Order: sequence, then C-alpha cells, then structure tokens
Amino acid sequence: MLSKSKLGDMVAAVNLVAFFLLLLLNITGARSCGVTSPFVRKPQPSVDLSLDTFPPPPGYNAPEQVHITQGDHDGRSVIVSWVTPLEPHPKFVTHWEANRKTKHKTHSMITSYKYYNYSSGYIHHATIKRLKYDTKYFYELGAGNATRRFSFSTPPKVGPDVPYTFGIIGDLGQTVDSNKTFEHYVSNSKGQAMLFVGDLSYADDHLLHDNRRWDTWGRFVEKSTAYQPWIWTAGNHEIDFAPELGETVPFKPYLHRYQVPYKASQSTSPLWYSVKRASAYIIVLSSYSAYGKYTPQYEWLKKELPKVNRAETPWLIVLLHSPWYNTNGYHYMEGESMRVTFEPWLVEHKVDVVLAGHVHSYERTKRVSNVKYNITNGLSSPVKDHSAPIYITIGDGGNIEGIANRFIEPQPSYSAYREASFGHAILEIKNRTHALFTWHRNQDNEPVAADSKWLFNRHWYPEEEDS
Ligand SMILES: *[C@@H]1O[C@H](CO)[C@@H](O)[C@H](O)[C@H]1NC(C)=O
Ligand SMILES: *[C@@H]1O[C@H](CO)[C@@H](O)[C@H](O)[C@H]1NC(C)=O
Ligand SMILES: *[C@@H]1O[C@H](CO)[C@@H](O)[C@H](O)[C@H]1NC(C)=O
Ligand SMILES: *[C@@H]1O[C@H](CO)[C@@H](O)[C@H](O)[C@H]1NC(C)=O
Ligand SMILES: *[C@@H]1O[C@H](CO)[C@@H](O)[C@H](O)[C@H]1NC(C)=O
Ligand SMILES: [Fe+2]
Repeated sequence: MLSKSKLGDMVAAVNLVAFFLLLLLNITGARSCGVTSPFVRKPQPSVDLSLDTFPPPPGYNAPEQVHITQGDHDGRSVIVSWVTPLEPHPKFVTHWEANRKTKHKTHSMITSYKYYNYSSGYIHHATIKRLKYDTKYFYELGAGNATRRFSFSTPPKVGPDVPYTFGIIGDLGQTVDSNKTFEHYVSNSKGQAMLFVGDLSYADDHLLHDNRRWDTWGRFVEKSTAYQPWIWTAGNHEIDFAPELGETVPFKPYLHRYQVPYKASQSTSPLWYSVKRASAYIIVLSSYSAYGKYTPQYEWLKKELPKVNRAETPWLIVLLHSPWYNTNGYHYMEGESMRVTFEPWLVEHKVDVVLAGHVHSYERTKRVSNVKYNITNGLSSPVKDHSAPIYITIGDGGNIEGIANRFIEPQPSYSAYREASFGHAILEIKNRTHALFTWHRNQDNEPVAADSKWLFNRHWYPEEEDS
C-alpha cells in the first residue's frame, strides 16, 4: 500500500495527465464508445474523522448506534439494533403505529464481544414482527432521561408494479468525504431503503483494528440507519481476521453488530441471503466466503435463483462486494473466480443489475456476458448479451484509502461510463418495466445526476437500452 500523502500527490499528477490525454483523444475522435469522465474530484487527503466527532448521545447508558434492517423475507418485520454502553438494561424496544395509542414491547437478544484488548458494549437486536405494510411506526429505546425516539415506514406489500426507491452506497468509511457522501444521500428525500455493498467502518485500517471505530461509524450513520433499513453486504473490511492479534474468527465484529434475516431465505449464513421488498428481489452474496461447487453459498444460490417469481418481484438485483466487471487497475479481476462460478446462472435467470463496491470509483457497464469460455476454445472476451445484468461498481463512498483512478486504457468496450469521484446512487423503480438509475457525485448538488440510465426490466421488457 502507498502512504496516504504519496498517494495524494500521485492522484493529482495522474489526474492531470489523464485529463489532457482525454482532451487529446476527444479532439482526435479516437475515444472508445464508452465514457471516461474527465471530471476528477479535487485530490484531498482522506483521514478518518477524530474519534470524538460523533460523540455518544447524552444521558446515562443512552442507546446508541441505532440501525434497522428488514427482518423477514417480505418486509413485515424489522430488526432494530443498538448498543447500550454501560449496562444491558433496558433490553426492549417499544413501538407503536403513528396516530395510534397502543404500544408494543419487543425484547432484544443481547450479545457482546472482545477484540484484542477492546470490549464492546451490550449489542441489542430485536425483531419486531407482524407489522402492517406501508405504515409509519415510531419506536423508543432506553429509559428515563436517556430515552430516544425514532421512526420508520414499512414497505408496500410485495407486488409487481409497486414503485420503490433505493439508495446505493459502498465502501463508506468515516472521513470528511464519507460524511459528504452520506449527507448528500440523506439530503435526498427519495431514498426509502439502502442497498449497502460492503466495507463499513474501516476500523481494520487502524492499529489493532481499533474497534472503537466500529462504534464511531455506528454513531456516524445513525441519522439514516435508525430511520430506514440498510440492506447489508459484507466486504473485505468486515473480515477482521488478524492472527497476529489472536483474532482468528472471520467477520467477528461485523456479525455481532449487524444482523440480517438470512434464515428467512433458507440461508445458513448471515453473509448471503435474500429479501423481497416492494417490486424488488434482492440477493446478497459474500465475495469472502467459499463459493466453489458444493460449498454452502453455491448450493444456496443454485436453489435460490429459480425461486424468484418475476410476476411478483420483477426486479432482480444482486449485491456483492468485489466487482465482476470493472476496468480500474485497482483490485483488477479480484472478483474473477466468483464471476466464473456464478455468472452463467445470473444470465440464465436474467438478473437486472449487479451492484458491487471495493474499487473506489464509479463505473457502469453495458449488458455483457462472458460465459462461453471452456479452457480450450479461446473465447475469453465479454460479448453483448440482452439477458445479462448491467454491472455497477460504486465503491466510491469516500473512505480513508482514497480514490482509485488508474483506469485501464483504452476503455474496454463493455465499460459504458467510469469516473474517479466519490458519490452515491439512487435506483427509482417505477413499475415492472422501467427503473431510473442515477449516480450523484459529491461535488454536485443532490438533484444533479452525473450519470443516469433508464433500466429496462429483463423479464418484462428486455429491450436494448441505449448505452
Ligand atoms: C490496547 O492496547 C493499545 C496498545 O498497547 C493501547 O494503546 C490501548 O490503550 C489499549 N486499550 C485498552 C482498552 O486497554
Ligand atoms: C439523568 O438521569 C440520571 C439517573 O436517573 C441522573 O443521575 C442524571 O443526573 C440525569 N441527567 C440529567 C441531565 O437530567
Ligand atoms: C458532515 O456534513 C454535514 C453536512 O454537510 C456538515 O454540517 C458537518 O459539519 C459535516 N461534519 C464533518 C465532521 O465534516
Ligand atoms: C470447448 O469449445 C470448443 C469450441 O466450441 C469445442 O470444440 C469443445 O468441445 C469444447 N470443450 C468442452 C469440454 O466443452
Ligand atoms: C412505466 O414507467 C415508465 C417510466 O415512468 C413509463 O414511461 C411507462 O409508461 C410505465 N409503464 C406503464 C405500463 O405504466
Ligand atoms: Fe473492499
């Protein structure tokens, strides 16, 4: 790894060179048909905000790091998670329907963990069940003067023409840039749930994997995570495997802190699972768990894809961390073995879009597949394929490791748009045939879409989108 300041200098130099190269290519008309945006973010050092930037809320043992996620397969349950720092009580969440008086109590399961010389607070997970669809609820945590109130809205009943809007963020971390990405998303009132493609806190970039960084991250994102479900995907920064510290249980902090409803989709691991929400069927995969033939993840996905009923949920979306198609020199082809294993199934089942992170820039591909290769036939290039997903890489949340701007030149033909800037995306599903995808870079005002694309549903309207 390069040091941060050196990386910053290189970023500046490379950006300048790339910019002039692009100008030149534009003038000579030699550009490939995809777009490499000449817009580059101002290179800034990315350091994590100080530990006291997001202090605990006031009050004795006040619940903090509140986050919610979908708690079942079709959106009638919510898992509420929070941390009480000093003692386990009170260990329940109280919720009620907006404009109604009847309150309900749901008890939490409490867990805690040690990591090297760090000890976590009491981590609560409570699953509120049997909620009504499309309804606003309030909920309260804590006691006395440390009581905190939040709210959420359940999704509409699952159905083919239910409009729904997702936010998309990856590789967020906790720098000034992370804060920009996050606040930018929060300022957009459209997002109803977040599809998070992995790499949350980047605690592991600190000495001893300083787990206080998991706590500060939980407080940082609370103003969104407490109010709308974030659908979690595990990235490499969730592994926290550090035998030199005596920490040999992969995903230990992440799995204690973030619960997902994996059993509802017959998964045997919280690292891969699915949920249905409105008109979308969302499949979450783990780039860092075994996926070869006969492994649990392989067997699960093989059975999972045929279960998707496009008459009920037209939009089939896959989340994973390490991209299968990406034309950045950073992490190039790291997702390749997983692509080789699973891509034929995704094409067969006409997945609409695959969202990934890991590479710290933005890229969108055309609809391509590369499933013909059989070792001896020499067919190793991606080809246009109407049944294939569009691949979006959105690892540009703005974390401590900085921007990834070493794009491969010339731009490969399967790459439609790429840009080395931080940002987030919004996916607005309108009906069974149309969804609008927009990418919002941090430097612009929220309504500005630096890249946008009408997605046509692969099952209901498999027409070619213009690139
Ligand atoms: C953990 O160890 C580090 C390095 O020795 C030290 O700086 C830190 O204060 C320790 N933390 C706790 C909670 O003991
Ligand atoms: C909050 O309540 C605790 C315990 O009941 C009490 O010790 C503390 O003084 C109170 N703090 C405030 C700001 O009222
Ligand atoms: C985070 O962003 C918000 C909104 O732009 C701003 O008010 C706040 O000061 C930022 N916080 C930090 C620590 O940069
Ligand atoms: C691989 O592809 C070539 C050319 O299409 C074909 O002749 C050959 O039989 C294939 N091999 C296998 C193992 O399928
Ligand atoms: C679906 O939404 C698109 C975009 O808003 C619209 O053009 C189209 O007419 C809608 N289709 C139906 C059947 O309503
Ligand atoms: Fe990553």
